[in-house]
Amino acid sequence: QAQDAAAGEKVFNRCKACHFADKDQNKVGPSLHGVIGRTAGTHPGYNYSKAMVDAGKSGVVWDEATLTKYLQDPRGMVKGTKMAFPGLKKEADIANVIAYLEHESK
Ligand code: HEM
Repeated sequence: QAQDAAAGEKVFNRCKACHFADKDQNKVGPSLHGVIGRTAGTHPGYNYSKAMVDAGKSGVVWDEATLTKYLQDPRGMVKGTKMAFPGLKKEADIANVIAYLEHESK
């Protein structure tokens, strides 16, 4: 499936109320700048839920597979997460927003 970072930047408009991806600054949610390859729940200076910290301790690292799972159903994958976002329904939106996050992780 082709991924499109430019299309993903538009999908990211739905994340922007709570996240920056273009700079290393926390907001309502943790910065997603450089999130690819990062262990869940470890961005400095951000007050995560215990659930997200525990996910990281249990070995969750953000990559295409784990982000796809999380964005399909955040509260299903990380039970107790405080991310108040229901997730994305369309597979293409998920793939594209991950491509955008990869672009912002370089
Ligand atoms: C956490 C992605 C939308 C609030 C996270 C994490 C990711 C993520 C990957 C885990 C980061 C880490 O472990 O450092 C996204 C994407 C979104 C989106 C791609 C849009 C498609 C939102 C929205 C909100 C939000 C709209 C606010 C209403 C949060 C919060 C956390 C979080 C509060 C911390 C969760 C916790 O500690 O349990 N998000 N998010 N996110 N997000 Fe989002």
